[in-house]
Amino acid sequence: MQGSSANNSALPIEERYHPGKEVYRRLHEESLENPEKFWNEHAGIIEWYRRWEKVLDDSNPPFYRWFVSGKLNLSYNCLDRNIKNHRRNKAAYIWIAEDGTEKIVTYRGLHKRVNVLAAVLRDLGIQKGDRIVIYLPMLLEAPVAMLAAARIGAPFSFVFAGYGASALSERIRDSGAKLVITSDGGFRGGKVVELKKVVDEALQETTSVENVIVVKRTGTEVDMVESRDLWYHDLVADRNDYVEPEVMDSNDPLYILYTSGTTGKPKGVVHGTGGYAVWVANTLEWAFGPTEDDRWWCAADVGWVTGHSYIVFAPLILGLTSIMYEGSIIHPGPDRLWKIVQDYAVNLLYTSPTAIRTLMRYGVQYARMHDLSSLRVLGSVGEPINPAAWQWYYTNIGKDRCPIIDTYWQTETGGFVMAPANGISLPLLKPGSVTFPMPGIDPVIYGEEGAEVKPGEKGYFAIRKPWPGMFLTLNNDPDRFRSAYFDKFNGAYYSGDFAIRDQDGYYWLLGRADEVLNVSGHRLGTIEIEDAIITSEEVAETAVFGKPDPVRGESIVAFVVVKDGFTGDLNLGNAIKGRIRETLGPIYIPHEIHFVSSLPKTRSGKIMRRVVKAVALNQVPGDISTLENSVSVDEIRDAIEEFRKESG
Ligand code: WTA
Repeated sequence: MQGSSANNSALPIEERYHPGKEVYRRLHEESLENPEKFWNEHAGIIEWYRRWEKVLDDSNPPFYRWFVSGKLNLSYNCLDRNIKNHRRNKAAYIWIAEDGTEKIVTYRGLHKRVNVLAAVLRDLGIQKGDRIVIYLPMLLEAPVAMLAAARIGAPFSFVFAGYGASALSERIRDSGAKLVITSDGGFRGGKVVELKKVVDEALQETTSVENVIVVKRTGTEVDMVESRDLWYHDLVADRNDYVEPEVMDSNDPLYILYTSGTTGKPKGVVHGTGGYAVWVANTLEWAFGPTEDDRWWCAADVGWVTGHSYIVFAPLILGLTSIMYEGSIIHPGPDRLWKIVQDYAVNLLYTSPTAIRTLMRYGVQYARMHDLSSLRVLGSVGEPINPAAWQWYYTNIGKDRCPIIDTYWQTETGGFVMAPANGISLPLLKPGSVTFPMPGIDPVIYGEEGAEVKPGEKGYFAIRKPWPGMFLTLNNDPDRFRSAYFDKFNGAYYSGDFAIRDQDGYYWLLGRADEVLNVSGHRLGTIEIEDAIITSEEVAETAVFGKPDPVRGESIVAFVVVKDGFTGDLNLGNAIKGRIRETLGPIYIPHEIHFVSSLPKTRSGKIMRRVVKAVALNQVPGDISTLENSVSVDEIRDAIEEFRKESG
């Protein structure tokens, strides 16, 4: 990066940019002025079996279809193509176990594993169009399973291994999966997380699954149900198959990934094949500018969209070497992440603000224990990065020479939509700003009434034009696809986030504008948590909201009213937490549960979550003239006061 805002700020805005920023701006302009030409060129990042007839079919909005009737296979693009292109013996993944064991798998090795599993899946009756669920921790078998599914054209739905049984069974039911791939368990923070047990419980509530393939990782004892459950290592032993990749249509679904929305039912975001692939590969190039010999480390979990796009598909399409780390970044000590950077000479590091803030809390001395000079670019994703964390990352980790690539995007967008572009030409950065739109993105910020806001005003972030990485639909729910995303602002894609565009044209993403929480970069629905709490027989009603948290971004706070005859105490609080761990999974456990005798409601009986939150956070609750029971407000105040005293 050249210059700094301090010595450049007297210059007119255009000259203050890194001179190369003009290249970024021009590429962006071209992409919107002549999308046909732009995407005809940039779709060449993929090897197609048959070229598309039309770049974009926008005849049936919001169901946009990209690269119409183009044919391709992503397992082919991630594997076979790299083998042909001299990357046969190049490492695709360097996998590091939490205990330090290392496994290197080359493109050839990955190709072999994927082909064998693809053949096994076929033998088990999985055909093109059948769905499978993958419920695995950070093991090499995760990308292998995703690519094997892609090879035979079976859309997969990866369920993050931190989800509990009811979350898993709901996803199996909605996707109609015929087969589940899981493991006995996983290692995290020195502990064993049992997974097969969760699958067994989830399957009691579903009917579609015929087989479960179980990877052995922890050696934990598991129940194998006869004729349903099969060991992965038995199935693949002594095989050396080659499976011809299915010829997929550009708009055939590649995967379904469930994410939280504003109702209790998670949304099954369906991604297609061609547009998605073109998007993830190009955005990784534009934003990070990886080179052939780089070691790329996307330190997300493979079960989230960040892992799907930037641990699996984009880096493999580009033929990169990725680091994949099994466990906790602070195990066995707070220098673990930095040690991995040193030991494997990581060049491009991509992590989350929560991880940065956690490591920042432990202190810079842990980073100083290791040589971080291999680092060239630092990335961030998942939540707004506060300027203090940005500066710490920039100064202490990047030593003032690595740009911070803060990437804003969502499960729905497929890949980055807003980010500085090291691979095109970097704009001058501002700590905490995602800077500019990626090529092809036409961002807009609307006010409540649907008119564009002025520079410097906060509004709702939306995208006016379709882009290749956008999702195709919501599984089983095209109506919700339209109503949740395209109705609010007259056909533009509405993200659910607040944003500001400043006087210099820089964008600042400010967090969710709806009832979705962002806890440590995990997207959680308020209503999902409320629904889970309410299933406890002791509970009459509840209100959940997010409270600003210096490390996690937000923490989960629940106010609970118990039914007559029950007592709201520590025991009940712990019991509720325990049940949420089992059903939704540990990431959903409230950090605070407060018991009160009533909640503020409107006269029509609707709980006013907005008021609960404002009062609890000691803010002005706004208009409470429609409030039915004002005593409840005092009670919330008292509960918070009490909690503050107790927790010091
Ligand atoms: C938030 C994760 C600010 C945002 C890739 C979005 C961000 C939600 C950023 C999507 C960022 C993600 N700056 N906010 N750089 N990145 N978000 O679907 O609220 O798990 O709507 O996708 O995370 O979360 P999701």
